[in-house]
Amino acid sequence: MLTVVVDGFFGDTGKGKIVSYLAIKDSPTIVARGGVGPNAGHTVVYQGREYKLRQIPSGFVNPSTRLMIGAGVLVYPPLLFDEIKLTKSEERVFLDHQTGIIEDRHIQMERESSHLKGLGSTASGSGAAMSDRVLRKLKVARDIEELKPLLTDVAGEVNEALDRGENVVLEGTQGTFLSLYHGTYPYVTSKDVTASAICSDVGVGPKKVDDVVLVVKSYVTRVGEGPLEGEMSMEEARERGFLEVATVTGRIRRAAPFNFNYLKRAILLNSPTQIALTKLDILFPQDANKTSYEELSPDAKRFIEEIESVGKIPVTIISTGPDTHATIDRRSELGLV
Ligand code: IMP
Repeated sequence: MLTVVVDGFFGDTGKGKIVSYLAIKDSPTIVARGGVGPNAGHTVVYQGREYKLRQIPSGFVNPSTRLMIGAGVLVYPPLLFDEIKLTKSEERVFLDHQTGIIEDRHIQMERESSHLKGLGSTASGSGAAMSDRVLRKLKVARDIEELKPLLTDVAGEVNEALDRGENVVLEGTQGTFLSLYHGTYPYVTSKDVTASAICSDVGVGPKKVDDVVLVVKSYVTRVGEGPLEGEMSMEEARERGFLEVATVTGRIRRAAPFNFNYLKRAILLNSPTQIALTKLDILFPQDANKTSYEELSPDAKRFIEEIESVGKIPVTIISTGPDTHATIDRRSELGLV
């Protein structure tokens, strides 16, 4: 079973939490990351501890899951090694031979670019490295001696695991509207990041995909510049509990109410089979940490029903708090597992 998890908004929806939940619940043998690179930040809260990750897949919470980074992804080796240590995942992190390498000069170039500053770039070197990649000048993982023990054929491993009938999760990064092609150009990241691109980053064809889980948050946020429909003032965001700090840059995220137009467009671009809804407890504090759908308040249920009626697909996973276990999973109740 291949499940692809992608973000339906601007990359701050809580995919990390959803992937960590699936890693525990579905015991995938592999969680593989697609997406851009260390410009992404995923927060995972597990067993009372908060992990902020930019390279390692959020599936690290399951110690028997192998963690892979696809050929289409970029890695900054010092950060990768720090995260392997932090998550104690030595021996089970693998890179594709052709995963791209960010060097210090890429980070320097982005820090000095007023153009990228104007777009609100994270200046993590990702765009500069991508541009070298397009020019076929970028180093890849097989060129770096210290990465040798981590190398494997990620596409081969993932496809073979699927052929053996194992569960595999592909973890997308960034968000639909940050896609270089389909997002709010030029206020976007340096690659496509929709479901198809995540498959391509890892090296799996579209016919192999069983489920695409689109992760949307109960409200919308974005960091950096670019349009945001229904944007509210920082005061209002604070009052409503929508004020968040970005994982990578520490910037305050801009906020807006849940947006059904964004939802519809994200569904069109990613063809999800299921929706995962996060941070329901922020909209409905009385529903914090609930783990069954029946227990939810009538207002929360109405909101979920509206998402299902507009999206025409089921909301199967609902996050009611930061911890991996604060999750409602309706997949078996809906006959989907
Ligand atoms: P860059 O990809 O670092 O150049 O950033 C381009 C835009 O995408 C900026 O507005 C960033 O804040 C945003 N961005 C890039 N990656 C992420 C992410 O993983 N989450 C949220 N925003 C992101």
